[in-house]
Amino acid sequence: MQELSARTRQLAFASMRRFADLVADEPDAIILTIGQPHFPTPAHIAEAAKRAIDEGFTSYTPNRGIRPLREAASAYYERFTGHRYDPDREVLVTVGTTHAIDIAMRALLAPGDEVIIPAPAYPGYEGAVRLAGGHPVFVDTRSTGFLLTPDALRQAITPRTKLLILASPANPTGTVYSEDELSALARVCVERDLYVLSDEIYAELQFDGSPASISRMPGMRDRTLVIHGLSKSHSMTGWRIGFAFAPAPIAAEMAKAAQFSVSCPSSISQMAALEALTCGHEDSRPMREAYRANRDLAVEALHRMGVPVVEPAGAFYVFPELPKALGMTSDAFCEALAREAHVALVSGTCFTHCGEGYVRISLACPPEALQEALGRIERFVERRRQG
Ligand SMILES: Cc1ncc(COP(=O)(O)O)c(C=O)c1O
Repeated sequence: MQELSARTRQLAFASMRRFADLVADEPDAIILTIGQPHFPTPAHIAEAAKRAIDEGFTSYTPNRGIRPLREAASAYYERFTGHRYDPDREVLVTVGTTHAIDIAMRALLAPGDEVIIPAPAYPGYEGAVRLAGGHPVFVDTRSTGFLLTPDALRQAITPRTKLLILASPANPTGTVYSEDELSALARVCVERDLYVLSDEIYAELQFDGSPASISRMPGMRDRTLVIHGLSKSHSMTGWRIGFAFAPAPIAAEMAKAAQFSVSCPSSISQMAALEALTCGHEDSRPMREAYRANRDLAVEALHRMGVPVVEPAGAFYVFPELPKALGMTSDAFCEALAREAHVALVSGTCFTHCGEGYVRISLACPPEALQEALGRIERFVERRRQG
């Protein structure tokens, strides 16, 4: 038999569920591993999907998505991107943000091109870069509060560097870049002729202030691909709707990649998304407030335990240095916590080698469950420190 593709063989499954599987049979298990809101999709959005089915809106759509949705997306996200992207030439509806990342990589990268990724990082970036033949270059941000600095960016650039991937708010750390920080990074990108993929999927879940987009900085509109999606803001992970906003020549290449990979996103989900973007402007507010309250609970408990943590400013994760505080590896910590306290977390190593020493706790859960989990973690930490 001939060999299978080296591009897929080099990838490993992201093992986010590993420690959830360990507690699956425990009746008192608390699973804080999932990157998914614990709220249902708002009812008015689900109703729009039902209407789409009843009215027979069940056929293929244009590759780039239905025009009313592209128009609505351009208008809705203008408050974040600062630009009115042309719905015909610069906007794509994608099968979740995951697909937007994938087709962006296919459109931009030649084999061997380097992509700079501040780490710890969401694992989806590495997979998409490698599938497109690119080479991820992880820049360790642990000593700078999980933020990429202009100096660290400059040092990572080589003649093969083509793209920087930036997320704000970020998964797994919840960190957010300020206008000034983005502006300093933008200057390097312009000076060194880099493209930027700006993953803004958590923009609506930024706790304070208005989210800043690097696409707004001078010289950046033509070199930035902004991606958004409804999975997190509207609790629509299973509907698979994302958006890409890109300069027309890049969007055209991405549309070709979309045509040959998925044809189009689900017609029914697109009608649901149209409802979300036209009538669901306030949907994310109660979710954001719930995550903020959970963030406060978690940070307070971690401070009580004397565990170093960078306070998340958005998204729904907290990424403390719990294993390192106990002199354990992330995997060993997660395994012991799952077995002894029946609490499942994600090991920091799921987010590149720069996550060693950390764990990700999801804040997308009822506060009672979080309180109980934090209490068990605190007792676990005490036992380990005493023993
Ligand atoms: C930072 C980030 N980007 C993109 C995605 C992909 O989201 P989706 O494909 O559901 O839109 C996720 C999902 O967890 C994420 O955390």
